[in-house]
Amino acid sequence: MISPSEPTSNVHSETANRSYERISSKYDRTIGFFTGGQNLASRLAQLDELEAGDRVLYIGVGSGEDAIEAAKKGIHVTCLDLSAGMIEKARERFERAQLPGEFVCADIMQYASEQPFDAVVANFFLNIFTQPVMEQVLTRAVRLVRPGGKLLIADFAPPCGRITLRALHQGFYRASNVIYWAMGFCPLHPIYVYSDYFPRLGLDLQTTHRFRLFLKGPWVFQTTTAIKTDGARYTPSSAHSPEPKEIAAAVRDAYDFAAAIAAS
Ligand SMILES: C[S@@+](CC[C@H](N)C(=O)[O-])C[C@H]1O[C@@H](n2cnc3c(N)ncnc32)[C@H](O)[C@@H]1O
Repeated sequence: MISPSEPTSNVHSETANRSYERISSKYDRTIGFFTGGQNLASRLAQLDELEAGDRVLYIGVGSGEDAIEAAKKGIHVTCLDLSAGMIEKARERFERAQLPGEFVCADIMQYASEQPFDAVVANFFLNIFTQPVMEQVLTRAVRLVRPGGKLLIADFAPPCGRITLRALHQGFYRASNVIYWAMGFCPLHPIYVYSDYFPRLGLDLQTTHRFRLFLKGPWVFQTTTAIKTDGARYTPSSAHSPEPKEIAAAVRDAYDFAAAIAAS
């Protein structure tokens, strides 16, 4: 049994629950519009990491756009969200698709589970907290993963690529962060680099895949897979090996850079 965390600081009050409650019916369309669909693409790419029969917990699931796709693969999905409106949306989505799922309306820090999960998915969730609280929530998420299981995170990526792309990336992130903050969704903070916390949490970074804004823009989103290492089922994994698509993108950037230098 994994019991709830000791009462910590103010995770619940920090999470701007009312704001998510208000927007629950429009959330997916709004985010999809502002990100050219790449937010969803980064979440759906995770499905390759999950197998039929896995028990998977989606924390801060929202309306379950990604969780339903996992359920279609035969994964046993538990959806958890603090907002009753969001959980209701997720439940309706599963009902319409006639797929089974468990739905929990709770604060992640107060959630107790009989057994740890094969995977815990935290998509665009950890970034709604201040850094100290984000660390508590991340630690909590890791506790809910079984040894050898996976933690999957889709979220804003740290900037990479040539300088113009990095500047566009920072500009996009800053603008998004200010807008979401003004709407009461999250605090103002820099992009979190979750993998910095992995070693001390007993996580081994396995893969990172990046997603470009409007396909040609900066790689603003990423999906990260980490394995919880403190268990018998742990098998050492390789560091991230780039996908052919990523290599092609890097070569294209290098070529653009060289062409820009040659032209100047
Ligand atoms: C930015 S949305 C992300 C939703 C979804 N994962 C996605 O990628 O579209 C964050 C979600 O976390 C939920 N949430 C906020 N605080 C929470 C908490 N303490 N425990 C569980 N869920 C929480 C909100 O209600 C909201 O649905």
